[in-house]
Order: sequence, then C-alpha cells, then structure tokens
Amino acid sequence: MVEALPTLEYDPYAYETHEDPYPVYRRLRDEDPVHRNERLGFWALSRYQDVMDAFRDSARFSSRHGVSLDPDAFHDRAHTNMSFLAMDPPRQTRMRALVSRGFTPRRVQDMEPRIREITREHIEAFAGAGRCDFVADFAGKLPMDVISELIGVPREDRGELRTWADRVVHREEGVTGVPPAAAESAIKLVRYLQDMIADRRARPGDDLTSSLLVAELDGERLAELDIIGFLFLMAIAGNETTTKLLANAMYWLWRHPGERDRLRADPGMVPLWVEETLRFDNSTQALARLVTEDVELHGRTLRAGDKAVLLVGSANRDERIFPDPDRYDLLRDTSQSLSFGRGNHFCLGASLARLEGRVALEEIHARIPDYEVDSSGIERVHSVNVRGFAALPIEFPEASTE
Ligand code: HEM
Repeated sequence: MVEALPTLEYDPYAYETHEDPYPVYRRLRDEDPVHRNERLGFWALSRYQDVMDAFRDSARFSSRHGVSLDPDAFHDRAHTNMSFLAMDPPRQTRMRALVSRGFTPRRVQDMEPRIREITREHIEAFAGAGRCDFVADFAGKLPMDVISELIGVPREDRGELRTWADRVVHREEGVTGVPPAAAESAIKLVRYLQDMIADRRARPGDDLTSSLLVAELDGERLAELDIIGFLFLMAIAGNETTTKLLANAMYWLWRHPGERDRLRADPGMVPLWVEETLRFDNSTQALARLVTEDVELHGRTLRAGDKAVLLVGSANRDERIFPDPDRYDLLRDTSQSLSFGRGNHFCLGASLARLEGRVALEEIHARIPDYEVDSSGIERVHSVNVRGFAALPIEFPEASTE
C-alpha cells in the first residue's frame, strides 16, 4: 500500500497537524524549501542552512515587525509588547546590553537553590496522589514562579500573573487574529508591571526589576516603558516556552523506553535529555521576519516587505545536519540545534531555561522515574508560534521519599 503523502501546505493554524508537523516539514525541505502560503501571506523557510542564514542576516530579515505568525500582531509597533525582540541593531544591541547589566549570568546561577526548592514544593503537592496533570500541576507553574522570583513578584500575585501570561498567547481554533481575552490580559499584565515598578522605585529590593531601574550604560538608563516592555517579554518568552520544554521532555522520554533506561542507568544524562528534547520537538517552532530587500533563494524571489517564517522545528530535523533526525537520541550531538535561535536575538534566557530544565527534570526523575502517560487525556496547546501540551496526565506507582 502506498502511504498518503502529507500535504505540502504549511498552515500554522491547522492545529490538528500539530499532532505531528514533522512529515510536512520534511516534504517542504525536500520539495519546496521556500514555501509560499498565499492565504496567510508568508514564505516559510524549512532548511537548516536557510533558517540559520536568515537568523544571522538581520539587515535583510528584520525583526522590526516582531516575530509573530499572527497577521494582526506583525507590525511596526510590535516592540511595545515585545521589547527588543521586535527591534534591529543598533537599537536592539543597546537595549539588550542595558538589560544585560541587570540580567547577569551570576543572577541566573544564583537561582539554582531556589529553583530546586520551588520544584520540590510542587512535586510534594502531587507525589502522594499517584497521578497528576504534569502541565497543570508542575510544568505550567514552575517557569512563571521562577520569573516571578527573578523580577520580584510576590507569591500571592503569581497565579494571576500566570493566567494573564497564558491568555496572551492562547488562540481559538480557526481564529487568526488576537482574541479579546488575549488583548485584555496584556493590558492587565502591563498595569501590574507598572505598579510593581513604581513600588520598586520607592522601595528597591534585590530583584531584577530593582536592578533594571539603576542599570546604566554610558550614562544612559532604561526608560520606564523599556523596563515594562522587557518584563512583559520575559513573562511571555520565558514562561510558556519552558513549560512546553518540560512537558515535551516527559512525553518523549516516555515514548522512548530505551532512552529512559539509559537515563535510569545514568541520571547525569539529564542535561542531554533537555538538549535532545529542545532539538527534537522545540517549544518555539517558528519565528517571523520582515524581508527588507529582494532576496533570491532556491529560484524564488522574496520581495521587500514580504513576511518570512523561519521554521526552527524543521531546521532541527534537517538530515543535512542531524543524521537520522527523526530519532530521539539522548546521546546525539545537539550543538548545532537552533532551538534558542542564532545571531543578535539569540535567546537571552537560554541559560536560565537550561538551568530550570535540568533542575526540574533531575528532581522529577529522582522522585517519579517510572511514570506512565495517560494518552487519553493529552491535549495540545493552540498557539501558532509554540508547540507543546495543554494537558499531560501522568500516573506513577509511589513517589520515592526524599
Ligand atoms: C525552552 C525555553 C526557551 C526557548 C526554546 C526559547 C527560545 C527563544 C528563541 C528561539 C529566541 C530568539 C527569537 C528570535 O530570533 O526572534 C528567544 C529570544 C529571547 N528569549 Fe527565549 N527561549 C526560552 C526561554 C527563555 C527564558 C526562560 C527567558 C527569560 C526569562 C527568555 C527570554 C528571551 C528573551 C528576552 C529573548 C529576546 C532576545 C533578543 O531579542 O535579543 N527565553 N528565545
């Protein structure tokens, strides 16, 4: 029997293909590497080298309209929400440098004990139950707790903040615009951050918000709007991506018992589990760019003003770089992975994401190494840029005591 070929249409709103977009990506890489989606008005680049080149060429593949696949959210005011993610050098370079004065590697490193503590608290809450929804009870909570801790959001406000951040990115089936609930939540989040900044100005603490208020570069400081924009970006960029990473890691390890055996034999392999999950099924699947001048690629012409979508999820499965790319293999070389991007926008939170991933999965693996996924309860998120689970029920015998 001849197997039906997957469609050649790449449609980020066709959520049912989110079940497994990789066969579509493969066909695009093989047959249509510069794919045109007329309905949504973009070009999709699927090969590793093309995605990598576009990441590194911010002059021709600009971020100044943001990175969203949503047509409504791709415009020249995107930086009001997305801060320097939606800017080009030299403005982006300067803003990023200023923010980096506060968001230092040291600040990230110092968070490890606290991340472990929060992780253990969450695990403790469900460990005795024998089952949980890994997203609702763990992966959906930890990243926002960590960001809240980092920027100085008090405990009692964290739940609300998480709800807003989740709503900002949630999309309804068949709707290509930004839903009203997302816009309202964005406003609430901004107001909250505004109040928090005012509070920290009056009563500085040792959190990131306080240090951003005094961060200086050549005598220049960040304007209040810049700080709000950056904190908003952290709440969006650092929250759901890490949530998806954790649940994707649990899911794929469960689907690959041989890899799970390897991990059981050597728990020191947790960082490899994180890296291979990022390559194999990254939370960030696609990022948009604005084409600024005509670009010839594989016989097609992208015109100035066109939108190009960089398919990171496809690049990470390109057989030209990753041998046997559809195999989930903890021992493979993932150093070429594009999961955190490349070039001037390379993820500023990559080391925090890796730290969170390692600590969270070390603790999970130590407490519930023998979990099973209840596949009847799995739900996927509806989001155009990210991929992962909205619900991932797991069952486990009896959590080992600490
Ligand atoms: C698994 C987790 C994560 C993934 C897969 C991820 C992925 C990415 C990617 C691909 C980019 C580049 C975007 C572009 O080129 O347009 C990016 C940028 C960024 N990420 Fe992450 N990220 C993660 C976690 C985090 C965390 C935890 C934070 C901070 C708390 C964070 C903060 C940022 C910021 C601020 C930028 C913008 C950098 C710039 O424009 O210069 N990310 N991320």
